Amino acid sequence: MSISLEDVFEKFPNRRREDMIPLLQAIQDKNGFLSEEMISSVGSYLRISVNKIYGVATFYDNFRFGPVGKYHIRLCHGTACHVAGAGTLLKELERILKISDGECDKQGIFSLEVVSCIGACGLAPLIEVNDMYHTNLNLQSLKELIKSLREKENSA
Ligand code: FES
Repeated sequence: MSISLEDVFEKFPNRRREDMIPLLQAIQDKNGFLSEEMISSVGSYLRISVNKIYGVATFYDNFRFGPVGKYHIRLCHGTACHVAGAGTLLKELERILKISDGECDKQGIFSLEVVSCIGACGLAPLIEVNDMYHTNLNLQSLKELIKSLREKENSA
């Protein structure tokens, strides 16, 4: 998918280096993720090297570099979630969705991203699906959640 970045660039007319993060965020909000082509356009626009932009963007968990599904699952693998079983949940998600960290399924329904602590450690382990937290998960509740999302999708 290719989108025009002109209207996004128009919101940042001063081409300042400090605009990099909000500019990338605005593009991601519009497109769902940052493609190589988009990063390169931002580099040309702000006169910053592509390597520098990748260096900054990959530092933040909230930037994505590939397409996401209708249900984007972010699994926290910070320390508290790890101790509470996030690794087991991750294996199960990979098994039932047939995708790995950073991937989207062929139908564009589910995508998976492993992130570090998202600040709700007392509710570990947890995942976020399209900005909604699902907390204190175990294998059973995780399977039920995915099943309910699939049913919702099939009835849509
Ligand atoms: S470690 Fe998962 S929310 Fe903090």
